[in-house]
Amino acid sequence: MKTIKIFDTTLRDGEQTPKVSMNIDDKVKIAKQLEKLGVDIIEAGFAFASEGDFEAVKKVAESVTKPIVCSLARAKKSDIERAAEALKNAKHPRIHTFIATSDIHLENKLNMTQDECLNHAVEMVKYAKTFIDDIQFSAEDATRTDKEFLVRIFSAVIEAGATVINIPDTVGFSQPHEYFELIEYIKENTKGIENVDISLHCHDDLGLAVSNALTGVFAGATQVECTINGLGERAGNSALEEVVMAIDSRSDYYNAKTNIVTEEIYPTSKLVSSISNVDISPTKSIIGTNCFLHESGIHQDGVIKNRATYEIMDPSRIGIPQHDNLVLGKHSGRHAFKKFLESNKINVPEENINDYFKKFKKLTDTKKYVTVEDIINIVNEIEVNNDN
Ligand code: KIV
Ligand code: ZN
Repeated sequence: MKTIKIFDTTLRDGEQTPKVSMNIDDKVKIAKQLEKLGVDIIEAGFAFASEGDFEAVKKVAESVTKPIVCSLARAKKSDIERAAEALKNAKHPRIHTFIATSDIHLENKLNMTQDECLNHAVEMVKYAKTFIDDIQFSAEDATRTDKEFLVRIFSAVIEAGATVINIPDTVGFSQPHEYFELIEYIKENTKGIENVDISLHCHDDLGLAVSNALTGVFAGATQVECTINGLGERAGNSALEEVVMAIDSRSDYYNAKTNIVTEEIYPTSKLVSSISNVDISPTKSIIGTNCFLHESGIHQDGVIKNRATYEIMDPSRIGIPQHDNLVLGKHSGRHAFKKFLESNKINVPEENINDYFKKFKKLTDTKKYVTVEDIINIVNEIEVNNDN
């Protein structure tokens, strides 16, 4: 079984989430939690971008010891020098340098030919290598780049010393099967690829970031870039919790595992949500508040008998504290109602349960979500009437 490396970019691409900004202390707090979570690589920021980002990369590099700490750098000497400086105290430093490779970017943004781009990338990888040994190279907008050019540029940067090649779906444009074929093609045709990690970086513009990342794993990638809660530029990146739990729950399918301590997923998600001020939708996979709640009577009945009837993972595996998993609503049955009374320690005579249940059902026609207080009111009301 192969181990997929998890490259967390919450502190870099995640900070590119519109309206999100993290100060140095926030970043250090998150980095320490990411270390506890067991990520293999932390992308701490973009050292050249600002004085604050430089300091944040430096502080993160000095605050964690287990993961590789990485700074983003455009394929420019000034960026690479700044990244190297920020990482100088890191136990395991990596420079992540990138250049756009698609025609639309080469023509409109960089004003370069493919050959000029390739020569420049090689020169910059060699330059980065004079500071740090571990160099990741990304071909920005790879999924809209000519496949043969991708193979040429990746073969050349590997020869120049790159240790990781990253294949970003920068604009979230790729379809899962297409991405699979691209990764497979690069794997089969790039010289020296067997000596480096193949990395994936997917954006969620079409809601396919996680699917694309997983299909890339299937095609032979060895590193996945992701963010906590799926933060990131525009629609965000592949959500770490989804990628990791898909591999964890279906290791039989992927023949793979990760080094993530899954029980730390929920605390990490909460921390990032509170620091970033980005709420988690109740239906967000893995960590949304609804993920382990059951409303329909049929489901509730099944879960009471055996949770595995409607739950594919144990919430404790993600670090979610034990909680009542039944929600009372209009679809709830008598079974769930009784269980709800028991778990909320509402003691009532067995012979009155039918009356309480009828009242509760009536209430659900006017109230979508019935609370403990509502049930206590129903019980009190019936008891008062009985006493009279
Ligand atoms: O989306 C992207 O292409 C990036 C690169 C810098 C890896 O974030
Ligand atoms: Zn990105």
